Amino acid sequence: MLDFHEDPGPGSGRRAARADFLSDAPRLSLNGRWRFRLSDTAEGTGPSLPDPALDDTGWDTIRVPSHWVLEGYDRPLYTNTAYPFPIDPPRLPDGNPTGDYRLGFDLPDAWPEGRTVLRFQGVDSCGTAWLNGSLLGHSKGSRLPFEFDVTGLVRPRGNLLAVRVQRWSSGSYLEDQDMWWLPGIFRDVELLARPSDGIDDFTVRASYDAPNRSGTLRVTADAPGLVEIPELGLSVATGEEVTVPGVEPWSAEHPRLYRGTLRAAGETIDLPIGFRTVEIAGGRLLVNGAPVLFRGVNRHEHHPERGRALDRDTMIRDIELMKQHNVNAVRTAHYPPHPEFLRLCDEYGLWVVDECDIETHGFIYAGWEGNPPAEPMWRDALLDRARRMVQRDKNHPSVVIWSLGNESGSGPAFGDIERWLREHNPSRPLHYERDPSYRHSDFYSLMYPSLDDLERIGERKEDPPEGVAPESPDDVRRRGLPFLLCEYAHAMGNGPGSLADYQAILESHERFCGAFVWEWIDHGLAGHDSLGRPYFRHGGDIDYQPNGGRYCLDGLLFPDRTPSPGLAELRKAIEPVGIAVDAAAGEVVIVNKHDLIGLGHLEFRWRVEVDGSRAGKAQVAGGAPPGSGPLPVPPCGPRQTVRVPLPEVAVAAEGETWITIEAALATATCWAPAGHVVAFGQARLGDGTHRRRPLPAASESAGGGLRPGGASGGGLRLGGAVFDLRTGRLTRLHGVELDGPVLDVWRAPTENDRGQGPRNALAADWEAVGLDRFLHRTGGIDRPDDRTLVVHGRSGPATRTLGFRTTYTWQWQDGALRLRIEAEPVGDWHDTAYGHLDVSPPRMGARFALPGGYTDVEWFGRGPGESYADSRSAARVGRFALPIDALQTPYVVPQENGNHVETRWLELSGTGLPTLRVDGEPHLDFTARRWTSEALQAAHRPHDLRDSGRVWLNLDHGQQGIGSASCGPALPGRYRLPVRRYSWSMTLTA
Ligand code: GAL
Repeated sequence: MLDFHEDPGPGSGRRAARADFLSDAPRLSLNGRWRFRLSDTAEGTGPSLPDPALDDTGWDTIRVPSHWVLEGYDRPLYTNTAYPFPIDPPRLPDGNPTGDYRLGFDLPDAWPEGRTVLRFQGVDSCGTAWLNGSLLGHSKGSRLPFEFDVTGLVRPRGNLLAVRVQRWSSGSYLEDQDMWWLPGIFRDVELLARPSDGIDDFTVRASYDAPNRSGTLRVTADAPGLVEIPELGLSVATGEEVTVPGVEPWSAEHPRLYRGTLRAAGETIDLPIGFRTVEIAGGRLLVNGAPVLFRGVNRHEHHPERGRALDRDTMIRDIELMKQHNVNAVRTAHYPPHPEFLRLCDEYGLWVVDECDIETHGFIYAGWEGNPPAEPMWRDALLDRARRMVQRDKNHPSVVIWSLGNESGSGPAFGDIERWLREHNPSRPLHYERDPSYRHSDFYSLMYPSLDDLERIGERKEDPPEGVAPESPDDVRRRGLPFLLCEYAHAMGNGPGSLADYQAILESHERFCGAFVWEWIDHGLAGHDSLGRPYFRHGGDIDYQPNGGRYCLDGLLFPDRTPSPGLAELRKAIEPVGIAVDAAAGEVVIVNKHDLIGLGHLEFRWRVEVDGSRAGKAQVAGGAPPGSGPLPVPPCGPRQTVRVPLPEVAVAAEGETWITIEAALATATCWAPAGHVVAFGQARLGDGTHRRRPLPAASESAGGGLRPGGASGGGLRLGGAVFDLRTGRLTRLHGVELDGPVLDVWRAPTENDRGQGPRNALAADWEAVGLDRFLHRTGGIDRPDDRTLVVHGRSGPATRTLGFRTTYTWQWQDGALRLRIEAEPVGDWHDTAYGHLDVSPPRMGARFALPGGYTDVEWFGRGPGESYADSRSAARVGRFALPIDALQTPYVVPQENGNHVETRWLELSGTGLPTLRVDGEPHLDFTARRWTSEALQAAHRPHDLRDSGRVWLNLDHGQQGIGSASCGPALPGRYRLPVRRYSWSMTLTA
C-alpha cells in the first residue's frame, strides 16, 4: 500500500470544503511558535510524534506560519518547469525532508460547547494531523484550506496538536508552478468554534441588472438565517430572492460594497455584498452589461524573507501599488491566494481571475506521457482542488473568472472540472489556456504572442492552434470567444518593452477583455554573501540541480517591492484616461477608458513649461496668460471621448513650449491621496527649439584656431579644446580633463538580450562576433581649416572583418566645441562567413571618460526615470536633476540601465569642476555611471559594482529597444538598429 503522502488521493478525514468568512463565533489562532524537528525521510521522527507523552523539550521551535527552508532548515529550491525529483508518479524519492510540528495549547475559558473545527489555510506539500494522540486525517493541495472536526477530541486544557509535513508528496506532481518550492505550514492555523445553531456554509448570489439598475440578492445557507443590509433596509431570510432597485453595482473601478450580516441563532457573519453580473455575450466579456478590459498583472505571493507566508500589510501594499499604477486586475498565478487577499480585492476594487492550484508542466520532460489530467488516478485530486477553491472563494464579488490551472496540458480531468464548475458555480466564466481545443474555456487565451499575432487575434483571424482543423467545430467556437491574454510582457530585468504597443492593440478590438503582465514581483530571496553584504538570491544561488537560475526574477517590483521602471511604464501604458492635444483644432481630446464609470472622481489641470521650466512672465509673450490652471472637463461616460478647448497658452518666442495635462484624484481614496496623478498627456506647442546656454565670454573662445603642440603638453589645440596627437581624442575642454570619444556599440546585455531560442539569444551572437570587445584604430587626423579637426578611424573586434569606419569632425565655433560623428559599417555583419550570424549593434554611441568628481546631472529631455526606444512613454519631457548615483537602476542582476532618450541637453557638475554641458543636435541618448558597461556586465550583484574613479558618459545616437524576449516574441524590427551608416552631432561647452 502507498503511504498517504504518495497516495494520489487528495486527503482523508477532512470536512467538506466551504466558504471562508468572518464571524463572531469564537476563534483561536494557533499561529505562533511550535516545536519543530526536521528529518530526512517521510517517516519524520517516527510513530511517536502524536503521542502527548513525547518529551519534545529538546526540539527547536519554529514560527507558524512559515516555510522551514526560510527559517534556517534545509534550503529553498527554485525550478521553472522541472520537477526536482524523478518523474515516477505518484512516488517520491526516499530523501524527503519532513517537518514534524507539535503545539500544546489550552482553550480560552469562554470556549463554547458545540462543535470545534481545526483549520489549516495552507500546508506545503502535504499535512497529516493528530490531536491528543488521535489521527485527524491528512490533506494535499498546498494553497488550499482543509479542516478537521475536532469536537470531542479537543479539551479545555493540555491539548497536543501534532502535524507531519512532507516536502514532497503526490501533490507535488500537481504543483509544478514556476516558483520556489517552499515547504511548511505557511498559512494560518486556527481553531473555530462552530455553534450548533450557526451557519457553516453559504452562497451569495448578488447580480446586477444594468438596464433596470437593480440588484438581485439570494443567500442560500446550510442552516436558516437572516440576511440584513441596513443601508438597503433589507432584512430577508436565507433562500429568499429579493430584487433591490437603485443599488450601485460593484466593479473594480467603483468597488461598492454593501456591508451587512448573515445572522443565525448562534452566530453573526460579516456579509459584504457587491452586486455584479459577469457574462459572455456576443463574443465579449461583459460585467454589469458593459465590456471590460483587464489591465492586469499575474501575482505570485512573494516576500523576500517570508516566501509565500504573507502578512496582511504586505497584501495591502501589493494592492496599493497596483491601484496606484492603474492595474485593475489580478490573475492569482498560479493558485488561490490567502483568503484575506480576496477580501481586500473586494474592498479596494480589483478584478480577480482566481486560478486553481494545478500545474503539471514538468511532464513536458516525459513527452507529456502520464500527465495527471489525462490519468484517471488523479481525477479526485484534481477535482478536489477546483472544488476547494470555488467553495472557499465563491462569495467574493472581485472573483469574476475561475481559471482551471496553468500549463498542465490537456486531459479528461479538465472536462470533469468544467462540468462540476458549471453545475456548482455557473455565474462565472471559465479560463484555461493550455488545451488547444479550448473546449473547457470560455476564453481563447494565449501567452506571449507577438504584436502581429495579437492584431490577428483581435480580428478573429488567427491561425487555428496546432491540432485543430480549420473550420472544425473547435475552430469555429474558439473564434467566437473573447480573448484573454493571460501572460505577456515578460518583466525580467530591464523591461518589458512595447507595453504601449500591446495596449494600443488591446484597446482597439472588441474581442479583447484584457491582459496580464508576467509578473508582479521578482521572487528574490533575501541573503547575505560571505562578507555579510545583503543581496537577493535566485535559483542559481542554491547549490542544487536542476535549478531555474535567474528566471524567478521577472517582476515589475524588485523583491523588496521597490517599483521598477517597467512598472512606471505599465502605469502610463494602461492609464484609464487618454489625454491628447489636437493643436490644429485648438482642443484637448480626453478619452475615458474606464469601462463602467465616468471621470467625476478626477480633476484635470494643465501647466506650461518652456525648455522644461515653468513658464514665467518673462518667457511668454506679452499679455502673459497664466502658465497653469485647472482644465474643466464636462461629464464623460465610460469609453466616451470629450473635447475641451485648449487653454490659451502663450508659445515662447525662444525654446520648446510644452503643455502637460494631468488627471488626478479629486479626493483621497483608500489607496492614494487626493492629487495622485492617474494619467497625463503632453504636447509640444509651436516649433521652437531649445535654447542654448549663453556662452561665457571665455578668453580662449576668442582665440579660436588650431595650434599644434602648445602649452597643454603635446596635444592638438582647437580653441579651448586639446586633443591627443596620436589618437585624435579629446583630452581637455577648457578646465575639464576628459577622454573620448570611442565608438561604443556595446551594452551590458539585459535579460531580454539573452532571450529564449536562437532567434532571441541576441547577446550570444553579439558576443560571438565580438561587439563587446571593439578595438579602435586612428587612421589619420586632418585639419581642413584652422577651426576644424577631422579624425578618421576604424573600430571593430579581433577575429572579424566587421566594424565601423568612423569620422569625428570637430569644430570650434563661438566658444563651443561641435562634434559630428559618422560611422559607416564595414565587413561581414550578415550571414557571417564564420558562424552564419546576422547581427546588428545594440547601441550606436560615443563613450567619454570624465573626472570622477562629477556628481550630478541636469538635463532637458525625457525623465526622470530611464527610457528606451520601446519604453519611453512614462518618461515625460521636462527638465530634471539627479545625482549620478541615482541614475542607476539596481536590477537584481546587473545589466544595462539608466538610459535617457530624446535628451536635448545635459549638464554635469561636481564640486570644484567646471560644468560640462552637451547639447544634442537635436537629440541624444545618454547614460552616466561610475563604471563601464563591461564592469556592469561582469557584476553578479549590484554590490559588485565599484566606483572606477571616473564617470563614464555615453552620448549616443541611440540604443535598440529592450523588448521582452526573455520569454516571448523577438524585439520588433523597428526597435533595432539596422546595420547602416549613422551620424549624430552634439556641442560641448565647459
Ligand atoms: C509561463 C508560465 C509562468 C512563467 C512564465 C515565464 O509559461 O505560465 O508561470 O513560467 O512562463 O516566466
